[in-house]
Amino acid sequence: MTALKNDRFLRALLKQPVDVTPVWMMRQAGRYLPEYRASRAKAGDFMSLCMNPAFACEVTMQPLDRYPQLDAAILFSDILTIPDAMGQGLYFETGEGPRFKKVVSTLADIEALPIPDPHKDLGYVMDAVSTIRRELNGRVPLIGFAGSPWTLATYMVEGGSSKDYRKTKTMLYDNPQALHLLLDKLAQTVTSYLNGQIMAGAQAVQIFDSWGGSLSAAAYQEFSLAYMRKIVSGLIREHESRKVPVILFTKNGGLWLESIADAGADALGLDWTCDIGEARQRVGSKVALQGNMDPTVLYAKPEAIRTEVGRILASYGKGSGHVFNLGHGITPEVDPEHAGAFLRAVHELSARYHE
Ligand code: CP3
Repeated sequence: MTALKNDRFLRALLKQPVDVTPVWMMRQAGRYLPEYRASRAKAGDFMSLCMNPAFACEVTMQPLDRYPQLDAAILFSDILTIPDAMGQGLYFETGEGPRFKKVVSTLADIEALPIPDPHKDLGYVMDAVSTIRRELNGRVPLIGFAGSPWTLATYMVEGGSSKDYRKTKTMLYDNPQALHLLLDKLAQTVTSYLNGQIMAGAQAVQIFDSWGGSLSAAAYQEFSLAYMRKIVSGLIREHESRKVPVILFTKNGGLWLESIADAGADALGLDWTCDIGEARQRVGSKVALQGNMDPTVLYAKPEAIRTEVGRILASYGKGSGHVFNLGHGITPEVDPEHAGAFLRAVHELSARYHE
């Protein structure tokens, strides 16, 4: 494999010195880019982009070609490939988000769920990873990802997106052993899926616990964090003679940073509701931090974006261990010029914190 030309993302995750703060954006390949919308039209729909490695590679590269400041690429795919591989029949209704043909409601439904084999049942994802690695040719590291068991379970039980996770939480309190069985099957699947991505060429992995922050403090520990801890302990942590850093991102997990930092990962993703300087004090030297600009700041003028970037960099302060990102995915309405202003500001304003 070609040596990495830009490894500051991996170095920052391991708290090694860097010249400037590395930056990437969650959902950096997506609908805010006209070139993405053109590729999706060519492919037919979103899942056809994910399932065809050449298309997945094409859209992964689009933000990197537009923004030379990006310090990492992220595999173009979705967290819901796993429930689809478990037989739930994923589809996307235009403007409605994800839907499943089959929903999981009872213990018997959960007992019947197969544990997918990443190479047989999700081979298109492994192929996408190796195709993208080849195309990157050492330009920047490639991030692999999966959803957390809790976040995946909400989609599987609700049958799609939800505001209040009513069915999943009812199962949590009425039938916890059924939910534990589902989460256990998902943890096994996510572990082998991420290890498959690492063996195929992913150089860091992120677990998206997008809806962990909707749980009570006690339920978060038992039904989300415990399973992420289990996954982290089963991951391949070194490949191609380099560490493979693991990032845990619980949106709205700011109240629980100390215990998330204890789960064995290298870095925590932060949403914008906590101050990154305070978060740094709370987690100490245990983990690096990734985040945490409110993605809606990108609707504001470039000068305002720059001010907010400067504020976050100053709050984190001097030294390595910070990967700049948004606190959640970039939204479809953002002007691509504003995303460019954001990325440039991170590199320009951060050099002084790494002298
Ligand atoms: O970050 C990247 O550029 C990589 C690609 C990526 C996608 N989804 C592509 C996508 C990643 C990392 C994801 C993760 C994902 N998917 C999460 C966790 C992250 C988060 O935002 O909290 C979740 C909850 C999903 C589930 C999902 N996929 C939803 C709810 C939707 C519909 C609503 C939405 O935000 O678009 C999707 C579709 C989806 N996944 C799109 C993209 C680019 C849009 C599809 C389209 O082209 O219309």
